[in-house]
Amino acid sequence: MLNACVAHRGWSGLAPENTLAAIKLAVEDGLIEMIEIDVQLSKDGIPVVIHDFTLDRTTNGTGHVKDTMLCELVTYDAGSWFAPAFAGEKIPTLEEVLCLVKGRKKLNIELKQVGELYPFMEMKVLQLIQEFDLQDEVVVTSFDQQCLQKVKATAPEIAVGLIVGRPPVTIEQLQALGAKFLAIDYSYITKSMVQEFFDQGIDIMAWTINDKESMKKIMNLHPFIRICTNHPEVWKCAIKEGGMEGGMGTFRLASQTQK
Ligand code: G3P
Ligand code: CA
Repeated sequence: MLNACVAHRGWSGLAPENTLAAIKLAVEDGLIEMIEIDVQLSKDGIPVVIHDFTLDRTTNGTGHVKDTMLCELVTYDAGSWFAPAFAGEKIPTLEEVLCLVKGRKKLNIELKQVGELYPFMEMKVLQLIQEFDLQDEVVVTSFDQQCLQKVKATAPEIAVGLIVGRPPVTIEQLQALGAKFLAIDYSYITKSMVQEFFDQGIDIMAWTINDKESMKKIMNLHPFIRICTNHPEVWKCAIKEGGMEGGMGTFRLASQTQK
């Protein structure tokens, strides 16, 4: 499989983002390689899966995730905002997601850490990864470099990835973090950049591409670029229509093979 698909917040084009419904859809699809999720902590320090810092957009709750106890978070409806058919979907805990995904898909766990916003978040997430014995099936990603440093210092065996919007981002920066995975806003990806990073054994994931033409453009830059999308069904069309212009490369997982 070339230009592997990463389901962003689960299959979030078809089901409410970061819910078990969206993650299950992606898990059950044979062609999706990896699932991306966003993790924060409840007030009582439990890792939960939700993107925004506040509850307002994707649930019927209000206020900050970090100020809300888990027992309250799980009472909220995280599905109705998307479609009535998903009424009753909950904010999942990371533990629930690991149960669902283990052995079935690779998981990209984005830590929504900002400085010290979530004390001990890295340790709590690593504990769960270790409990579930998922060291070889996950990549822990973040915009926050200090967070990645903590992850690497605590668990050097875990693959970590830096998320960036626009460049500059350098190979030296990634090497200093021990990161073999770069998640970058797709609109800033160039052919020369991609080649340079791949030559150094760094995987690249382009986020977040939802239209077919943009997917095909990125696919034409290099067959190893992962396509992170809310719409894996669009990715399937792009692959079918031959996003590839170049020869058929051998798909690799640098973060798994060159740790
Ligand atoms: O991993 C890349 C992407 O998920 C980062 O942006 O805001 O969708 O979490 P966001
Ligand atoms: Ca994310």
